Amino acid sequence: MSLAHNSVERERVVVRVPAKINLHLGVGPRRPDGYHSLATIYQAVSLHDDVAVTRDGNGITISAVGAYADQVPTDASNLAARAALRVAEHYRVDPNFHIEISKSIPVAAGLAGGSADAAGALIAVDALLGGEIGRDGLMTIAAELGSDIPFSLSGGTAIGTGRGEVLAPAMARGTFHWVLVTSSAGLSTPEVYAELDRIRGAGEPADPEIPSAVMQALVAHDPQALGAALDNDLQEAALSLRPVLRERVSMARELGALGVLVSGSGPTIAILVRDDEQALDVSVALASHGVADPILRVLGPVPGARIIESI
Ligand code: C5P
Repeated sequence: MSLAHNSVERERVVVRVPAKINLHLGVGPRRPDGYHSLATIYQAVSLHDDVAVTRDGNGITISAVGAYADQVPTDASNLAARAALRVAEHYRVDPNFHIEISKSIPVAAGLAGGSADAAGALIAVDALLGGEIGRDGLMTIAAELGSDIPFSLSGGTAIGTGRGEVLAPAMARGTFHWVLVTSSAGLSTPEVYAELDRIRGAGEPADPEIPSAVMQALVAHDPQALGAALDNDLQEAALSLRPVLRERVSMARELGALGVLVSGSGPTIAILVRDDEQALDVSVALASHGVADPILRVLGPVPGARIIESI
């Protein structure tokens, strides 16, 4: 079926989607489907990609602009293309869209940048086609496409279970200040999980749990307590694959950060600090200690994917 243009249909929709960090990432056993069962706490932070989708008669095409544009796959393997395709299938229309990704979230960085772009494409294509699928329907498609995509839609602070895609809201007060130390070369998520399995060996890990210390620190808005409670089961695997990150973790600790951890599967390091002033101090100190990769100062939590332009 071809896509009919009419006056109520939109021509271009732009969706802004945040990056995420994991305040806690508990990894359980590998499941029969190959995924690991997780108990995680996500927080969306103020670093965004913009996903602009327009109607185009040439199938699904992708282009990228911005800081990390050269690392964005522009073929059908891009999760955003798969997301657009799924929405078009739902509406039973030909998938004729151009997706332009304005890429500020580093690629393969443990910040759910690819998931962010997929979430943006889901919302944008649905809006272009009439917005019938709605939030719940988009969440279902998101969960099928990737473990982190439902959180890219929801944003805020949330508990993730299952393989990360089953979300429940987490009570969190106030704003937390983070410094993100990026890396020029990414890490492959499947390889980091495989490295964790290798490190763990034959023993079956316990089912992961959400630690009450993190939840209490979030409700009380206690950055000190949150810093002490940050934990990531993938950290050792990421550090094992990229040993240079160990120095960065120790450096950040020595600089008086409230807490330091690898974000998701890495290689980005998330550093929790007291306030803007300490964020600046830590960033300057890391740069002067030879960290040449971009160091970003962000706030969390922020809202999930949202339409910022629609014509
Ligand atoms: O779901 P997503 O496509 O983001 O996952 C990418 C890869 O990360 C999976 O193919 C799997 O190797 C690994 N993974 C996992 N357990 C999870 C989430 C991801 O093993 N809970």
